[in-house]
Amino acid sequence: MNQDKTDTSSISFTALYTGHVWTANGLSAPSFHTRMGSFYYHALAPFEYVGGKLAGGNIRTFLLQRHHLIDHLVSRAIEEEGVTQVLEIACGLSPRGCRFTEKYPQLKYVEADLPEMADRKQRLLAQAAALSPQHLAVPLNVFSREGNDSLESVIAECFDADKPLLVITEGLVNYFDLDTINGFWERLRACLQQQAGGIYLTDNYPLLHDHPFHRTMKVLRGLLGTVSRSRVSFHFGSDAEAKQHFEACGFAPVTVHNPKDYYATLPMPQSRGNPFVRVIEARV
Ligand SMILES: C[S@@+](CC[C@H](N)C(=O)[O-])C[C@H]1O[C@@H](n2cnc3c(N)ncnc32)[C@H](O)[C@@H]1O
Repeated sequence: MNQDKTDTSSISFTALYTGHVWTANGLSAPSFHTRMGSFYYHALAPFEYVGGKLAGGNIRTFLLQRHHLIDHLVSRAIEEEGVTQVLEIACGLSPRGCRFTEKYPQLKYVEADLPEMADRKQRLLAQAAALSPQHLAVPLNVFSREGNDSLESVIAECFDADKPLLVITEGLVNYFDLDTINGFWERLRACLQQQAGGIYLTDNYPLLHDHPFHRTMKVLRGLLGTVSRSRVSFHFGSDAEAKQHFEACGFAPVTVHNPKDYYATLPMPQSRGNPFVRVIEARV
């Protein structure tokens, strides 16, 4: 872990890899392509192949599962509940903001990341002619408790408190141990309670004790923690534990979505056996 606990920029390069997964699978715009993302993607290809054969699913499988599932839950909130405000934290090169603002022009969609990545995203949005007062990228560090890049300040500056707010973190929370990320969850819950309704969506990776690839997941955790210089952690041992944790944190209702329940309805790849990833929907 970094010396300064709020400097987590060593994680940012992982957004290039996930960004390429979105591009390679037709979810992103060509302008979001990066040379480094393509390099990581192809460098990992042999491991992905072996993982797919041996474990019945690989990194790309669970990345696509989580991305499609989050897309689905955001669409549902917009179409069925009239949500018009979205904050996507740790956005990296996620194309979701572009796809959603195109499909739902009524949306205010704010993307947020550490300053360097937020700058890069802002330039990409401008190049893609997607930048507008309704769709922009701003600096936000989930560990800043004050100042312009704090969660509290971004929400106050960018959103209308009289309307519900949907907040997404994708590919972020498992880079931190539970105590560290829980401080952010508590602050997020407090912020959402100031809004006229709040929905939080996050991916999470439970370390299921009866999962046949329990040990493989621990190895993956070690590798990812080393390359990203972070404390990659599995926070929960079961879906029930995840739900209880968010409820104890003051969210209700809390639903833990398993991708396998969506195989018939969403265009996601399937795992052999129980998927590694879950999407948690925690409301206030
Ligand atoms: C694995 S990438 C995920 C990017 C994107 N959500 C996706 O799924 O393609 C992790 C992202 O977290 C961002 N990040 C790291 N530390 C952060 C922090 N303290 N606050 C906000 N974002 C952070 C990184 O810059 C990076 O863009």
